[in-house]
Amino acid sequence: MTKRIRGLLACAALTGMLAQPALSQATSAPVAIAIDTAHPGPKISRDIFGQFAEHLGHGIYGGIWVGPDSTIPNVRGIRSDVVQALRAIEVPNVRWPGGCFGDNYHWRNGIGPQAQRPATLNPDWGGVIEPNSFGTDEYFDFLNQIGADAFISENIGSGTVSEAADWFEYMTSAQPTTLAKQRAANGHPAAYKVKYLGLGNESWGCGGAMSPEHYVEEMKQYAHYTRNYNPDQQKPETAMKRIAVGWDSGNSDYTEAVMQAWKNKVWSWDLEGLSLHGYTVTGGWPPHLQSTGFGDAQYAQTVQATLKMKDWITKQSAIMDKYDPDKKVALFVDEWGDWWAPTPGTNPGFLQQQNTMLDAIVASLNLNIFMRHADRVRGSNIAQMINVLQAMILTDGPKMVLTPTYHVYHMYVPFHDATFVPVSFDGGTYSNGGVTVPRVDAVAARDTAGHLWIEATNVDPDKPTTVTAAIPSAHSAVGQVLTAPAVDSYNSVAHPAAVAPAPYRGRVSGGKVTLDLPPKSVVVVQVQ
Ligand code: AHR
Repeated sequence: MTKRIRGLLACAALTGMLAQPALSQATSAPVAIAIDTAHPGPKISRDIFGQFAEHLGHGIYGGIWVGPDSTIPNVRGIRSDVVQALRAIEVPNVRWPGGCFGDNYHWRNGIGPQAQRPATLNPDWGGVIEPNSFGTDEYFDFLNQIGADAFISENIGSGTVSEAADWFEYMTSAQPTTLAKQRAANGHPAAYKVKYLGLGNESWGCGGAMSPEHYVEEMKQYAHYTRNYNPDQQKPETAMKRIAVGWDSGNSDYTEAVMQAWKNKVWSWDLEGLSLHGYTVTGGWPPHLQSTGFGDAQYAQTVQATLKMKDWITKQSAIMDKYDPDKKVALFVDEWGDWWAPTPGTNPGFLQQQNTMLDAIVASLNLNIFMRHADRVRGSNIAQMINVLQAMILTDGPKMVLTPTYHVYHMYVPFHDATFVPVSFDGGTYSNGGVTVPRVDAVAARDTAGHLWIEATNVDPDKPTTVTAAIPSAHSAVGQVLTAPAVDSYNSVAHPAAVAPAPYRGRVSGGKVTLDLPPKSVVVVQVQ
């Protein structure tokens, strides 16, 4: 249990703040969940809770980087309010610099004295000027400030193998090569660690529109020549993991081609992961529905759309199982989340949208899907961390707002590196406008200290419900609840806590834990 959760539970118990949601409305049928503590499942990699930060809109500039001369409090140009908020959700890794931007990125533009960095263009996202002020050394400074690992997505689309190899020598060489000395001259004598290497991004689309066969040939070269020289990353347990491009939410050609090549690989290259990108685009592409101002019908359609993630993972896993029954290659859902129409009045290329209680439900349902597939899914990166798509944080000049999705990530911290505990239940259904979706979702896990945690989501936007679990040893169930007045309630600078978690206590009696779930809510409790 982290210090934060310990603190929350202690404080709530002392002040008697523990909330019991009012169940005034008609309650839907209770749901009994069976928790199989005798048959623990796989470890839930903390990298399932990863983030994605692309040079896109205000994701980096304004969101992370304000520059050392800004009046916004910062450390070496990186804004301190954002760092503090991200530390609290224990971000495991940050995928950078793209996205589509990654296949346009030339790392040499982003190192050295700021005044000498070239201004380039960002043709993918709004055609704006890329000042290159936030480059490799700023990225690692940011990671260090928030306590996260590196996930570098390298440029296969418009870069070269030699450029990528040089970048990794610059970052990871401890030997005094010319590039390592350049890094030291830029203020960083110690070699950086890179935990994950993304071998291109969406190479079937913005990353080069390559056929699967062409990509495989390119990817093999990058997988071989992009070497990590950090002396601390030479053992199998610490070695950098290479993630190839896979599934395009609907087409499995890349998965087949990459896994077949991996099965027949020679000694000089290998892979440890395959990516899946799967966005929730309610109503279909292009995103045309607004992120606020909707009702229960759009809510139900979105829940239905987001649950496709389960089918995508199942289909992708089945292909991977054919070539890799031992599950050596992990599945990384390294882009996912709600993608709404841009907020009116914003640059459409900046992919700026609001974040509501619906987004919180979407986050919870997807994280639960990833955890249920933790034997294969060992990483995910929600798109994107700040000010872009389904963000954790929205900034407005010096102000910062934590979104409902942020709060879900905060509540799920106990699941980082926890051991999955199987649960079975019939959650019933919720229907609206011809759309029927599961009404209740739940997962359970044991944290690294051995404590049992339960998460339960009430998808029904109108009716509260009750979840029960027989746990003979239980004497308390304490945690947090996240709910809101409306499905599209959101936080803003004027109302930053319109959607905020509240302390929560379940009922425990005679070895039975009862969780009263308000409509459209996410509850996480520790059972003791
Ligand atoms: O997250 C926004 C974009 O979506 C990414 O740049 C790209 O990889 C995907 O298509």
